[in-house]
Amino acid sequence: MTRVRSQAERLLIEATSLLEAAGVESARHDAESLLSHITGVPRLSLVTMAKPDGIQRDAFLKLIEQRASRIPLQHLTGSAAFRYVDLEVGPGVFVPRPETELLAGWAVDHAKTLPEPVVVELCAGSGAISLSLVHEVPRASVHAVELDEPAYEWAQRNLAGTGVDLRLGDMADAFGDLDGTVDIVVANPPYIPLDAWESVAPEVRDHDPSLALWSGDDGLDAMRVLEQTAWRLLKPGGVVGAEHADAQGESAPAVFAERWTQVRDNPDLAGRPRFVTAAKPRR
Ligand SMILES: C[S@@+](CC[C@H](N)C(=O)[O-])C[C@H]1O[C@@H](n2cnc3c(N)ncnc32)[C@H](O)[C@@H]1O
Repeated sequence: MTRVRSQAERLLIEATSLLEAAGVESARHDAESLLSHITGVPRLSLVTMAKPDGIQRDAFLKLIEQRASRIPLQHLTGSAAFRYVDLEVGPGVFVPRPETELLAGWAVDHAKTLPEPVVVELCAGSGAISLSLVHEVPRASVHAVELDEPAYEWAQRNLAGTGVDLRLGDMADAFGDLDGTVDIVVANPPYIPLDAWESVAPEVRDHDPSLALWSGDDGLDAMRVLEQTAWRLLKPGGVVGAEHADAQGESAPAVFAERWTQVRDNPDLAGRPRFVTAAKPRR
């Protein structure tokens, strides 16, 4: 028996093949997300529930065209989901990634063990990690710094009314007033080696801000600055966690080898090396 396809299903099939032809990896998922964005019908109910009218159909196909030109999905919907929160994102700010949810989870778990946790996020971007921290550990005092003005403005929007102490500045000399008082430093710094340009997807290369991506010949320039700042900010026994590229599973922990204890690398859900954690010795 031939199944009659709903109009939404036919639209999704057409859009998916357009996206696949443009090299978009998650073509069906992205088509569904955009149709859901346009119609307001949840992704999983689209095929049965969505009845897009002519205006919605045209708007959807326009978004598909934009996605096919490799504009990031989240720039088209204007938001990115991260753990239990949604962030406003768009041109000028790094789109938060699912793999960073694990680093944020590490900071949340550690903060939950402390009665009055003081947390600093370096390289805040949209504010995803800081927003998760105040959302999941409301008693935490969270401070965040971002160097790039457009990204800082997105973070301001996302963190408005949350109590996060957000500052515009360079992590190298940020939070002098907090030296030696912090429990947790967390950061997803830029970490792509300058010569890796070819291997980076167009969505990233052409739409994430360059300050969010590149970090010197070995991709670890920012990690070395972060190590210095974390050392200055943390109290004895305080901990640092920082994301890195999957090729940096040994070189990133090596940045912490000289003066930190409990230096270890942590895998992401795909088992790839993803973030380094370390503790400042107690004496
Ligand atoms: C990879 S993005 C991460 C953003 C966000 N934390 C996240 O996980 O989605 C790195 C961010 O660090 C910022 N950044 C780069 N160098 C910095 C510095 N020296 N001080 C503060 N922020 C910096 C960039 O502008 C960018 O927003």
